[in-house]
Parts: sequence; C-alpha cells; structure tokens
Amino acid sequence: MNLKELIINNPERHPERLNATYERIEEVIGLVFNKKESAEVLKKCKELVEIRNDRDELTESQGEKIANILTEFIPQDKIEEVKNLLMGAEIGTNEAIQLHEEFKIPVSHLEKDIVPVTGDGVWITTTKGERYLDLDSNYSAANLGFKNDEIALGLFNQAGQLISVKEDRVQIPRTRFLKVIHQLMPEGLTQFYWQNSGGEAVDKALKIAKAYTKQRGVIAMENGFHGRTHGAVSITYNKYYREPFGLDHEEWVHFVPFNKIEPIKEILSSGKARIVILELIQGEEAGNTPALPDFPRALRELCDKYNALLICDEVQTGFGRVAIREDEWWASQVYGVAPDIMVIGKSFGGGFPVTAVVTKKEVSEKMKPGYDGSTFGGNPMAMTSAFIAVRQMQRKNITLNVVLRSKQFFEGLHNIGSPLIKEIRGLGLMIGIKLPSKEYVSQFQEELKNCKIKSSLSTGNIARFLPPLIISEEEVDFALNRIELALKRLK
Ligand SMILES: Cc1ncc(COP(=O)(O)O)c(C=O)c1O
Repeated sequence: MNLKELIINNPERHPERLNATYERIEEVIGLVFNKKESAEVLKKCKELVEIRNDRDELTESQGEKIANILTEFIPQDKIEEVKNLLMGAEIGTNEAIQLHEEFKIPVSHLEKDIVPVTGDGVWITTTKGERYLDLDSNYSAANLGFKNDEIALGLFNQAGQLISVKEDRVQIPRTRFLKVIHQLMPEGLTQFYWQNSGGEAVDKALKIAKAYTKQRGVIAMENGFHGRTHGAVSITYNKYYREPFGLDHEEWVHFVPFNKIEPIKEILSSGKARIVILELIQGEEAGNTPALPDFPRALRELCDKYNALLICDEVQTGFGRVAIREDEWWASQVYGVAPDIMVIGKSFGGGFPVTAVVTKKEVSEKMKPGYDGSTFGGNPMAMTSAFIAVRQMQRKNITLNVVLRSKQFFEGLHNIGSPLIKEIRGLGLMIGIKLPSKEYVSQFQEELKNCKIKSSLSTGNIARFLPPLIISEEEVDFALNRIELALKRLK
C-alpha cells in the first residue's frame, strides 16, 4: 500500500480497517524522528490541515493533504518506517488503551504495556514498532507462531465459499479435518464434539461424563485449572475464581491433592464420584508442575477398578507442547496413560478459536440427540483453520522441534547457574523457574521486557515460559541469553 492508502483506507481492499487518525500520525512521526524534526513536520501539518479532534478518522481531503506533506518532508529512507507503523495500526496507542479501559468489562488485568500489531514466527511487533520475542504463545494458542499465510489464505477461501454451518449439520471442511485429526488421537478416542473455548469444552466433557456415569460427583486436583465457564471454574481450585459466583461449595466437586492416590481412592470407594479430571502437567495455577511419573498410571488403575471415567484436560499440553520424544502429541502419551475423555484446545486452531471433547464410542453413546448443541462448534472456518494448522504441525515435525528445543532450553537454564533460580521444572516447552519471591518474578518480567522478551504469565514465585513450538535454535539461544541478563540485573 502507498502512504495515502494507509491514511485514507480503501475499504474494498481493507474492509477491516479505518482511516488513520491525526493522533496516530503524530505518534508515528514521533517514533520515526527526533523531537525537533517531528515538531517541524507536525507544525506543517497543523498549518495546512484543520483538525478538530485528533481521534476522528481523517477525511479524504485531510488525509490527502497530510500524505502530500509527509511525502514532501520525509526522506525516502524513513518513508518505509512510517508506512510499516501505519500498516500495523491506523489508530494511536493511547486511544486503543483508553477505549479498552472505557468499554471492556474488567474481568482480568488489562495488559496495556505492549500493544501487538503484527507477528512473524515467534516475534511480535507493537504499535510503537518495538519487536519482542514471545515466550507465552498467547497462553499456548499461537504454537505455530503469530502469523500464518497458509491459514490466512485458507480462511479467505472458505469465507468466500461458505462461512457458517451449525454443529449438527454435515459439512465438507469438518469432513476434511476428521480425515486428518482422527489419525493423531490416542487409540480408542474416536468421537469428537467441537467447541469454541477450552472452558466450554471442559463443561461439555463434564456433561458427557455425567451422562455416562449417571452421577454428579467429580474429583478434581488442588491447583488445577480448567477454565472460566460455570462448570470449568467449579472444578478449578483457586477459590478467588469461584467464590464471587457462589461456586465455592459445590457438593459435587471433590478437590484432592495432586499426585496423591490415597484421597482419590477414598472418594471413589465411597461412591461419591466416578469422574476424575486433571491436567497431567498443571499449568496456570501450579507453575507448570508435572505429575509424578507413576501417578497417572496408578490413577488409571483406580478408575478401572471403580468403573470411573478419567478425563485428561490437554487444552494446554496437547499437540506436542510437552513432547519428550518425537511423535508424542499428548501428555497422556508421555505418561503412558489412556484417558476415557480428552479435552483439547488452544493450539490446534493455529490461532483460530476451536476446541473439542474427544472420547470413546461407548462413552459418547450415552449422549442422545437433544442433550446438547452448539451454533458455532466446529464451524467451517474453525475446521479449515484446524485442518491447515494440524497438517502444518505434522509437516514441520513439531514434536521433534519441541524435543530438541526443550533439551536446549532446560540445559541452558541449568547452565545459567543463577543463585536466584531455586528450581527448574516442566516438560517439553512448558517450563517454569522458581525465584525467591513473587516480587522477584515481577521484576524479572520487567527486566525481560527491557531485553525485548515478552514473558508468560507467572504463578506466584514461578516464572513460566511457553514459547511457540516453532521456536528455532537461534531463538532459544537469544531467549536464554536475555533470561541470563535479566536475572543478573535483578537486585
Ligand atoms: C488446562 C486448561 N484447561 C482449560 C483452559 C481454558 O481454556 P479457554 O481459555 O480457551 O477457555 C485453559 C486455559 O488456559 C487451560 O490451561
């Protein structure tokens, strides 16, 4: 696009964009030039163009005048920089933040330190043109990186052909995906129910399990995390997430310590529950804590003994995130345990929201027509994105990359040898380091940011790293180097 088109949008080519605001022009000029130079350019603009409100979209004539002034005053080598910044965003950073603060329900802490606008593999670029290496993958949802030309093309084609089909109806994009995905699932997990978020899929897994066991009781793990929908949050341990909604005394939920078999045995033998759900590597709330090696198998045996269903929540761990050998797509595979139900999500849409409950035939058969339903579940866009993403993961041999980069990452962390690192934990590319306190973790994350690393959310005194699974050897080296530097800068 030329400069004028970046200021006065052509909606036929970019229906997703607006005209630029003057505030954004000012910001961009301020980013590209020093104070004196930018003051001169902006003075010219203000002299020749009447601007009533800096945050209004520029009109055609205002935009044209500004484009002419910029073309005249900006040296050729700087024009590209200006264009890139405008391509990233035609709206100013401050306005973006202010509108979020004004209109977004504050269900979580608003992250406004970095406003990402473009991605390239593991790198993201902000409205201010700063480039960060990302170690979060958007909660593990951007495992193939932050832009994807193949998915872009596939979604463009699909949206131009057929954009919406409800969950109940036969459709071709889902058929294509079924042909690919069923080959990747652990043996016996053959029945899929598509959803749009991890929490929603966890809710549906609970419904399916309850329909099968004909019991309400669910055993969930202390420090487990399963999402924010009503059912998923009820079985999520952190009371702060449940209490405001009256979900802190659900008589059907039984929390037990992670990695301890006896308390589970007690509940199963009492007949109070016949459903067990867990993350094999506890993420959000436990700072990437893997199950002890024998726990999952002992749990499987116990579930068999009491005819209970074992649900593995692999929303975060699935699709190679925790591989320790090539072709390990699931944490359950890593631990050699076969769940009755698996919940999958995040990564397999390649960034597009799509999740699923996957189960055995005999379990699925207890669901009858009318027991559930979904407008968007497994819609053609989601299935198209998932189809392309999963084939890409296979083609890129993503599990092998996880094995190699994980080894490099763990070795590198050990080699840093910082006295501040009290523990290194995790599996695959789901990594945590324990620092002396929560305050150290916040400072560490700030220092990482100064070193152009965008870290993952922390859990208490654990800093977590969840890089996109496509991360290269050089990028892991870069990350390790910056982690070492950030630790050295901590007081
Ligand atoms: C293990 C696990 N289950 C479920 C969820 C919920 O997923 P979503 O945020 O897509 O609802 C998450 C999200 O982080 C998760 O880590």
